[in-house]
Amino acid sequence: MPITNQDSGTTIDEIADGIHRISTPVPSNPDLPPGFTFNQFLITGDKPLLYHTGPRQMFELTREAIASVIPVETLRYIGFSHVESDECGALNNFLEVAPNAEPLCSDIAAMVSVGDIADRPPRAMADGETLDLGHHSVTWTATPHLPHGWECGHLFENRTGTLFCGDLFTQMGADHPAITEDDILEASEQSRAGLDYYSHTKNCAALMGKLAALQPRVLACMHGASWRGDGGALLQALGARLDG
Ligand SMILES: [Fe+2]
Ligand SMILES: [Fe+2]
Repeated sequence: MPITNQDSGTTIDEIADGIHRISTPVPSNPDLPPGFTFNQFLITGDKPLLYHTGPRQMFELTREAIASVIPVETLRYIGFSHVESDECGALNNFLEVAPNAEPLCSDIAAMVSVGDIADRPPRAMADGETLDLGHHSVTWTATPHLPHGWECGHLFENRTGTLFCGDLFTQMGADHPAITEDDILEASEQSRAGLDYYSHTKNCAALMGKLAALQPRVLACMHGASWRGDGGALLQALGARLDG
């Protein structure tokens, strides 16, 4: 795990072809006894895309990690799943240092929040829409209220079969490998039981089925380790637990 900042312990790892995981650990504290990680993902290529910005107060750490791979000013898209500080808190900071970058979010997010809070207009994605990035391409799946937020959706990179899972499969703890093939469902179910951070939407089964149908080979998690394996099966397993 190459470290890009000694003080914070921020690391960067390539978890799939041209997809880099930037991870900043937050040590144990009274609010988060087991510790926690905030992970951002960089898709390199002709039109580099940063998927979630990390909290605004981590902007310098995330920027430093990106700069170890590509010039930050070449970022073309700043994407995220839903509107929260770890998803898009540093959005305007990145728009300032990357003059050609556009926010990338769901059409609902664009209408409700991002058209107002972002310093430049967003590129809004409809359900099922694909965006070409050159070497990679990404497809948007709308998942309203899963795990939370009306505007919520998930991005899938088609070339590598990577599903950016946002808060799905959140694992507590500050010491994870960048990517694992070991089970992450039980750890994420412990987080869900403790925090109750999923909405109580009735549409879980249908929405998880939509994500499973993408048949991802890599699950890129915002909190905890990323995962490699039969992503469709693991998403179906999570869906069954949500339904139960
Ligand atoms: Fe969230
Ligand atoms: Fe999150």
